[in-house]
Amino acid sequence: MVNTFQQHQHAALPRANHDERARQEFTKSLKQFVQQGLLPGLTPVYQTRAAKAFEKEHGKPPADRWDIRKAMVKDLYFQHYAATNRIAQELLWEAVIGSVERQLPELEKAIADLTASNPAPLESDPAFPVPRYVSALDIHCMPGGYASEIDGKDIAQGAIYDRGVYLYAMGYMGPDNDDMGRSVCNYVKRKMPGFQPKRILDMGCTVGHSTVPFKEQFPDAEVIGIDVGGPCVRYAHARSKALGHDVSFMQRSAEDTGFEAGSFDLVVSHILLHETSGQAMPRIFRECHRLLKPGGLMIHADLPPFDLMDPFTQFILDNETYYNNEPFWGAMRDKDQIGMARDAGFPAETIRFDTAPMAIMEFAGADTTYTEDAAEALAEREFTAGEYAPGGGWEVLIAQKAA
Ligand SMILES: C[S@@+](CC[C@H](N)C(=O)[O-])C[C@H]1O[C@@H](n2cnc3c(N)ncnc32)[C@H](O)[C@@H]1O
Repeated sequence: MVNTFQQHQHAALPRANHDERARQEFTKSLKQFVQQGLLPGLTPVYQTRAAKAFEKEHGKPPADRWDIRKAMVKDLYFQHYAATNRIAQELLWEAVIGSVERQLPELEKAIADLTASNPAPLESDPAFPVPRYVSALDIHCMPGGYASEIDGKDIAQGAIYDRGVYLYAMGYMGPDNDDMGRSVCNYVKRKMPGFQPKRILDMGCTVGHSTVPFKEQFPDAEVIGIDVGGPCVRYAHARSKALGHDVSFMQRSAEDTGFEAGSFDLVVSHILLHETSGQAMPRIFRECHRLLKPGGLMIHADLPPFDLMDPFTQFILDNETYYNNEPFWGAMRDKDQIGMARDAGFPAETIRFDTAPMAIMEFAGADTTYTEDAAEALAEREFTAGEYAPGGGWEVLIAQKAA
């Protein structure tokens, strides 16, 4: 799949000047080169030399992802791949941060205006206790993380994330970085045809990329995004207005939201769980159960569990744990999420993993070269209810509270 479109320039998004844009595009291309140029070389390197060298040294072939890592870290090709990937990641944020810093005063002004015009509640508190698993390190190497701020009104980390994640995903999340939310919405629409949630909670919403599609899909519903990052929820609130939607955003923790029990029809999250911790995850599942009305749905879109894939794929994916400041990435995939949902109170027969086809694939088709027309049509945000498209999907864990 080749993608040639650009990020949708909404009113809250930082505007890159010529040089900044060139640097940003370079980092996106470098990431693409790592993915498409270097990554495929790892398999033959492993098969033709690294596995053999391991077997010679240990008297047995590599058995699991840890053995494979031991075999691969000694190999120069792997070292070259891993170092280039890390450098691309660090350069990406650097290219965005300079641009955001340069225009921060005008960006803050634009965001203040948007905030004032969004009637949906915005809640943030400079004294909010950010969990250590978020504050202790810069997850995926984003300097400052999700929650750093100077004056309790800061939006910088949100702006950096919005632009940075577009480059990080190399555009494959769509012009509004919203493919996950759109895909889960499509999934709900297709699999639960009569389901009309009136109140929807998106946990770990960051800047609302996945939250806004729920408001589009269910315009009469109250949609609330929560996150522990103050700059993220402030930016998200303005961004949703910039996209024409009044969505509420609040600085709260998914572990203990403070919302009334039984007050939501649908609780979702998108790539939240792998950025929490082994202690937080069961608490979040229990909180979802508490928050749902009888018959309500919990849907977590995140990374597929390791036991669904072969050890070499596990090893490749687990590089995020080792080289991208994602300490819980691998451990989360080993957790028994089905058991956790059961322990939280969801009836066993309602809990399952499934795949939500990527909305972007369904729109354009896996082999389509994206054009400006396709980008425009995507930005119009049409929800398609097409057939399952091969080649791309988000893993979702679903459970339903007893009626
Ligand atoms: C990868 S981002 C999620 C991206 C977002 N859901 C989307 O689809 O664009 C993970 C987010 O989870 C937030 N987070 C981590 N732990 C949390 C918690 N206990 N409660 C709420 N948000 C949390 C982080 O601050 C971060 O913004």
